[in-house]
Amino acid sequence: MGQQQTVISEPEELDESAVFVGKVEDLKTSKRIRTTVNDREVVIFHHLGKYHALDLRCYHAGGPLHLGEIEDINGRACIVCPWHKYKIVLETGEGLYQGVDPQDPSRSKKWFSKGKKQRTHKVTIKDGSIYVTLSDLDLRCDSDFHAKEKFNDDARPDSV
Ligand code: FES
Repeated sequence: MGQQQTVISEPEELDESAVFVGKVEDLKTSKRIRTTVNDREVVIFHHLGKYHALDLRCYHAGGPLHLGEIEDINGRACIVCPWHKYKIVLETGEGLYQGVDPQDPSRSKKWFSKGKKQRTHKVTIKDGSIYVTLSDLDLRCDSDFHAKEKFNDDARPDSV
């Protein structure tokens, strides 16, 4: 489906538009970096040996994903937005939801994908440094709507 992979292993050539965001050493301790790449807020996670870069503002209402917890859902690492608990797959940016499959006689809840909702970006590791290349901004993604807004992370919107 043309979904962008965010995991790159060494050695890797740098894109012309790659932006330095930090050192591998720092991310191994903090597990996440909040940064800005060409005026766009981005969060980079280091989880189970893989690097993932996503738009920092949740596609739903702009929640700060860098403050979320990572949860395993059916073997897929997801960031859980701290505002309304939406689940987003780190590797693909898919939004997940739980529902009942009408074809399933057991009627037990299952996880389904809404498709790619959160923009993911390319991470390149080179000589101990981490670089992010923004994905193709010509293709729309729901998280674009909040990508350049100014937020107060302490103010949780109750009405959304
Ligand atoms: S803002 Fe992320 S779930 Fe609502």
